Amino acid sequence: MLLFALMATVPANAQQAKPAQRVPDTIAPQPAPVQPLPFSHKTHLASGMTCTNCHINPDPGTAMTFPVTATCMSCHLTIANNKPAIIRLREFSDSGEKIPWVRVYQITPGVSWSHRVHLDAGLQCETCHGDLSQTEAVAKTKAIEAMAVCISCHQEHEAPVECVSCHAWPTDQDLGFE
Ligand code: HEC
Ligand code: HEC
Ligand code: HEC
Ligand code: HEC
Ligand code: HEC
Repeated sequence: MLLFALMATVPANAQQAKPAQRVPDTIAPQPAPVQPLPFSHKTHLASGMTCTNCHINPDPGTAMTFPVTATCMSCHLTIANNKPAIIRLREFSDSGEKIPWVRVYQITPGVSWSHRVHLDAGLQCETCHGDLSQTEAVAKTKAIEAMAVCISCHQEHEAPVECVSCHAWPTDQDLGFE
């Protein structure tokens, strides 16, 4: 019965069927973490900014990093500077304290990861992080941290799938032999 039900849903011209999403959405929607300031990607992207105006991957380094507060202040010295959130922003700027943004995506420590190899391979932010142009508060919407997701895209792109490309062998020291 189940087999018939599955076969009935196969489109007549399977070759033109939409390819599966390369990075699937998370199964259940996750709440956005409470951030130190109510930063909205929707508002800022609507004003014509691009991702790399705020997120850069310093070389050497694997992370996309969060913008320095001076980037924010280049606009907010004047824009909305009487709003409570911007007054708090200016306090971070004046004190030199980094804004303690709460991380949304985070790979299990120890797994090899780098934005650079993926951007150099021509992948877009949107593939892994979704479309943020309508997003007020970033929540985990893409299942990018799962090993199966990494591997299925690597297979599709003929990128390395050997265990050691993402996991280092433990050293004797890790195993407590030294
Ligand atoms: C005006 C600066 C600005 C721009 C432009 C911007 N971002 Fe951000 N982004 C931030 C800030 C600040 C945070 C931290 C607060 C948050 O999570 O919303 C952030 C957080 C994120 C996160 C969550 C990171 C984590 O913790 O895992 C992702 C993913 C992200 N941005 C991707 C993008 C992409 C993709 C674009 C372009 C479509 C973009 N951003 C454009 C400032 C910006
Ligand atoms: C290119 C200019 C520009 C930059 C850079 C910029 N913003 Fe904004 N920001 C805006 C504009 C425009 C608005 C909308 C103002 C309004 O609605 O009155 C805004 C609104 C906001 C608000 C909402 C204010 C309120 O309560 O209405 C917050 C919070 C904010 N920005 C934080 C940030 C942070 C944090 C950064 C740096 C990561 C940043 N902005 C960088 C232009 C900018
Ligand atoms: C191949 C998938 C992929 C692509 C493409 C990608 N990201 Fe990410 N991003 C991730 C993963 C996975 C993490 C978690 C990394 C970690 O834990 O160190 C992440 C984390 C982040 C973070 C949190 C800070 C950091 O780097 O640790 C920001 C900001 C971010 N990405 C922005 C972007 C932007 C902007 C682009 C496009 C220029 C982009 N990402 C492209 C998968 C991707
Ligand atoms: C959307 C597709 C996609 C996703 C998702 C993806 N990757 Fe990749 N990855 C690639 C491509 C393409 C390359 C580049 C291969 C090349 O240049 O030969 C690559 C390269 C790498 C490399 C460098 C391998 C080497 O030895 O050169 C590592 C490490 C890596 N990815 C780890 C990860 C991890 C960990 C994840 C999941 C958290 C992940 N990737 C998710 C497409 C992806
Ligand atoms: C493209 C990158 C990639 C490759 C290749 C890869 N892994 Fe993983 N692996 C990951 C990521 C990312 C995680 C973390 C997943 C999570 O936290 O859900 C992980 C987690 C694991 C875990 C669980 C570890 C823990 O702390 O829970 C094991 C075991 C594992 N991998 C074994 C393997 C083996 C064996 C191979 C080779 C057959 C392999 N992996 C190949 C990316 C990869």
